[in-house]
Amino acid sequence: MDEETKTKLLETASRVLELNWHDSYTIPAEDLYEHQWLWDSCFIAIGNRHINLKRAQQEIHSLLQAQWHNGMVPSMIFSSVDHIDSRTWESSLSPNAPKLYATSGITQPPMLAEAVFRIGRKLDPQERQAWFGKIFPHLLKYHQWLYRERDPHKEGLIILVHPWESGMDNSPPWTTAALEIRLPLWITAVNKLKLSVFGNRLRKDTRKIPIEQRASLLDELIFYHVQQRLRRKYYDSEKILMRSHFSVQDLAFNSILIRANTLLQKIADEIKQELPAELLASMQKTESALEELWHKEDKQYYSRSFISYKLIEQPTIATFLPLYAGSISEERAKVLVDGLLSSKFWSKFPIPTVSRHSSYYRGNSYWQGPAWVNTNWLIHDGLRRYGFHEEAEQLRNKTIQMIHDGGFWEYFNPDSGQGLGAKNFSWTASLAADLLLNTDD
Ligand code: GLC
Repeated sequence: MDEETKTKLLETASRVLELNWHDSYTIPAEDLYEHQWLWDSCFIAIGNRHINLKRAQQEIHSLLQAQWHNGMVPSMIFSSVDHIDSRTWESSLSPNAPKLYATSGITQPPMLAEAVFRIGRKLDPQERQAWFGKIFPHLLKYHQWLYRERDPHKEGLIILVHPWESGMDNSPPWTTAALEIRLPLWITAVNKLKLSVFGNRLRKDTRKIPIEQRASLLDELIFYHVQQRLRRKYYDSEKILMRSHFSVQDLAFNSILIRANTLLQKIADEIKQELPAELLASMQKTESALEELWHKEDKQYYSRSFISYKLIEQPTIATFLPLYAGSISEERAKVLVDGLLSSKFWSKFPIPTVSRHSSYYRGNSYWQGPAWVNTNWLIHDGLRRYGFHEEAEQLRNKTIQMIHDGGFWEYFNPDSGQGLGAKNFSWTASLAADLLLNTDD
């Protein structure tokens, strides 16, 4: 791609971020997503640090303002306290929720340390000290919350209690895990009686986007049902996990956490802070526990159901996220890269979120096939750190090409490159900028 085309693409990316900026944070996309989301804002800040460093910092501050007293950083901060979504979640039911903000009662993949660290690299040493010094207590509290509340048996693997916490809502492992729980009769009835047409009318997303590009009605009903259960427990992890209901040791989340732990340590070192011994022990445990998720015969990692305690043998993009974690052996990394370059995943516009040989695979369907720019970014970063420079470069070029040809969409068909979901999607724009500039700083 020539310099002029790159410059134009970068300018368009900046315009998308400008369009979606709302006072102190960036919404994921107009029309469809009007709140602030946790991992979106982290990916947005990672790219925006090249374009508008102040805003990248504000983005993180805005997330942390709504951090819960127990340390949880919520997945969503609602645009207003009387929005219907705020009322559905009613976070004020929990004594841990902040008074001034309405939020969800769950979290999302812990990309925070990465965003904070990368912003730090853009600052001069003095500013960096101040930045890290200010954010570190929040980050520490968040990681401690994850281990305290979501790893109660100290196994090293964080347990998620809602598919939305994975950020990959209807990814096949989650759809499979949902089949393990007893669904209320009304959900079964709506599904059996094929009331989809009626149900879909009530949905906001399918009014704007073709239904085949979104989660199914059954998935949506399950999301709602699980959310209502969490709400009945006032978002108290102990009560939620006591009668295990819907809980998964999610591969992608735990891989991201391993990287986040490494960066938390680096941040602590820079400002000469010690991490508590208990946290350090948990951090180490996660690295070894990740290996329990390896399936020898299938040569890939899987998530594990916390109910049946069995691996959920669904081949998805998550299997490559241990590359991003950075804790696996070089041999293991090589096996993963072979899998990545096979026909299952190396499509014309990689990386499909589900193996193309899986019965779940549908190229246009949300987290069940399309390529997403954030997962490409994570895997690109992992490939580079493991020294797979050629593969990383191919992935980078193909991702940029896909965005250049198709536009700044939420996700893309991995064969045709057709843009899908929401248009002018913020993390597609920010991460495109980061990939275009191709720098670690
Ligand atoms: C969808 C995605 C999730 C994202 C959110 C906002 O729910 O599955 O990953 O954070 O939209 O963009």
